[in-house]
Amino acid sequence: MTIALIGAGNVALHLGQRLRACGIVISQVYSRRLERARDLGDLLHATPISQWDALKQNADAYLLAVSDDAIRPVGEALAKRLPKDSLVIHTSGATPCGLLADLFPRAAVFYPLQTLSRNRHLDFFIEVPLCYDAGNPDDLALLAQLARQMSAEVHHLNDEQRARCHLAAVFANNFSNHLFQIAAELLAEQELPFSLIRPLIRETAAKVQEQLPETAQTGPARRGDQATLQRHIAQLSAYPELQTIYQLLSDHIQQSNK
Ligand SMILES: NC(=O)c1ccc[n+]([C@@H]2O[C@H](COP(=O)([O-])OP(=O)(O)OC[C@H]3O[C@@H](n4cnc5c(N)ncnc54)[C@H](OP(=O)(O)O)[C@@H]3O)[C@@H](O)[C@H]2O)c1
Repeated sequence: MTIALIGAGNVALHLGQRLRACGIVISQVYSRRLERARDLGDLLHATPISQWDALKQNADAYLLAVSDDAIRPVGEALAKRLPKDSLVIHTSGATPCGLLADLFPRAAVFYPLQTLSRNRHLDFFIEVPLCYDAGNPDDLALLAQLARQMSAEVHHLNDEQRARCHLAAVFANNFSNHLFQIAAELLAEQELPFSLIRPLIRETAAKVQEQLPETAQTGPARRGDQATLQRHIAQLSAYPELQTIYQLLSDHIQQSNK
């Protein structure tokens, strides 16, 4: 099987490497910036391209690892170049499978449910659940087989289920990470290093591998320690936005534990 990779960012790097390790030939890598296509192309033994005219029409599939907002315009550019029966797959959790179905009836999705960054190595097979969907039953079978080769955990999810996974991932990953950033800034104000709370963050993530989050919760909101909650709100008097976040989350913890 040959796949042309459109995009040269985080997901293109991780999926491209895993696909290649599973024996898939990455024929071409497209990026608007040739040097980025070249860097990834070298790694994947693929031809780098930065012009749509150079995209070959004979790949078995075209994998669009581009920003969510770019999927439609990139699809439109591909539609001018590729046969209508091409298999065109995007990698977005939040974007419907059928976004490109009017251009390519075989539009499909291949969504890795993990935070992927170019500077982080992961054991893809163990750590990256793969969610797939396709409008066409043959493509569904093809993607299921490919996903099983690539990952120990694969799921056929419809648009609604995949969008919900993405929403949950934003709460679990993006929001947690932003809260880590706030914590780092609060510590830095007292000239305290972020490393002081790294063990706490490690244990927080480790605990929920064995317990449900509601049983793992501790802290003043969970205990109902009103005086401590008020002291924290007072400490944030210079930061009204942080007070709002603190109050909202504390109220929500207390309501969830009633
Ligand atoms: N990173 C994650 O953790 C993760 C996990 C699961 C799914 N996803 C999904 O995977 C997709 C890619 O995410 P990513 O994290 O790999 O993003 P990224 O690292 O920011 O890379 C985005 C890529 O999109 C390309 N791009 C953006 N606008 C474009 C346009 N108008 N025309 C052509 N190419 C364009 C960029 O091209 P240039 O190289 O030309 O700048 C870049 O190669 C998104 O749909 C995202 O929702 C991401």
